[in-house]
Amino acid sequence: MTRAPHGGPGRISGDGAVVARAPAKVNVHLAVAPLGHDGYHELRTVFLAVSLFDTVTVRPAGELTIDVTGPFAGGRTGPDRVPTDRRNLVWQAAELLADRAGVPAAAAITIDKSIPAAAGLAGGSADAAAALVALDTLWGTHATRGELADLAARLGSDVPFSLLGGVALGSGRGERLSPVLARRPWHWVLGIAGSGLSTPAVYGELDRLRADGRLPSGEELPSPDPVVAALHGGPVDALAAALHNDLQEPAIALRPQLRRALDAATAAGAAGALVSGSGPTVAALAADEDDAVALAAELAGTGQFRTVRAVHGPVPGARLVG
Ligand code: C5P
Repeated sequence: MTRAPHGGPGRISGDGAVVARAPAKVNVHLAVAPLGHDGYHELRTVFLAVSLFDTVTVRPAGELTIDVTGPFAGGRTGPDRVPTDRRNLVWQAAELLADRAGVPAAAAITIDKSIPAAAGLAGGSADAAAALVALDTLWGTHATRGELADLAARLGSDVPFSLLGGVALGSGRGERLSPVLARRPWHWVLGIAGSGLSTPAVYGELDRLRADGRLPSGEELPSPDPVVAALHGGPVDALAAALHNDLQEPAIALRPQLRRALDAATAAGAAGALVSGSGPTVAALAADEDDAVALAAELAGTGQFRTVRAVHGPVPGARLVG
């Protein structure tokens, strides 16, 4: 592997710790084709990285361990529990990078979770992307961004975008990316619901609703062009009108109160609102930063959400910090 520092000067602190962080994402456009033979759906999506970050700290150790801390670590048991073994994408990222570089997969990893799991915000993908960047420095594997992107695509559909950040058009399963220009920051309020929705379950519900004729088949994908043009620097109303998510109806079918949450966002003055990815987070678009703060306060009072966060995007992808 050839040398390419990720995020500037290499940082290994006194106790040997390396810290990286990666952002949550919102799909401002998500068009989903019919189920393919490989069990996946071809996508046309526009990702936007937003300013809600998970932080991953890695330290030298004799074996691989994962510890999860922070507001969304989840309990020791229950559906929101974040796994600390091979089921965690971070574990798989560590094994994949170690295997590729020919080093032992040994590190003590702490994931500080501010991005809730199973929320449609790609929190697990952010953790995996941050882990790749941090472990690359800890182990001195010196992977290029392209090599890390290849590993990321093997880990999950959203991991390459968590690495890249910014704004990007995604195709394939979401892993084929081309960067898109945004000339201004966009302000959002994320309304995070109580418990997570399973991504495969939401895709499965989409397939069922289409088979029953309750939703269009998805043979013809809507174009991302209006959303790309609006993101480029258009007025907020143009972006609000262009927001699109084919997973919204199936997410609402599985979690009917999402409809009320979307209505609450609009009633509270959001320029537009949609379900983020496979849900259940609601992303409400605000006119500017002041509006986002006011909208967040309003939405926090509706009782529809466990947590409400004002964020902005685009922000960079996985980077070393400190
Ligand atoms: O790629 P990832 O592991 O994140 O995908 C999780 C699940 O989401 C897949 O097993 C599949 O059921 C569904 N999926 C899909 N089409 C995509 C991405 C994900 O059907 N483009």
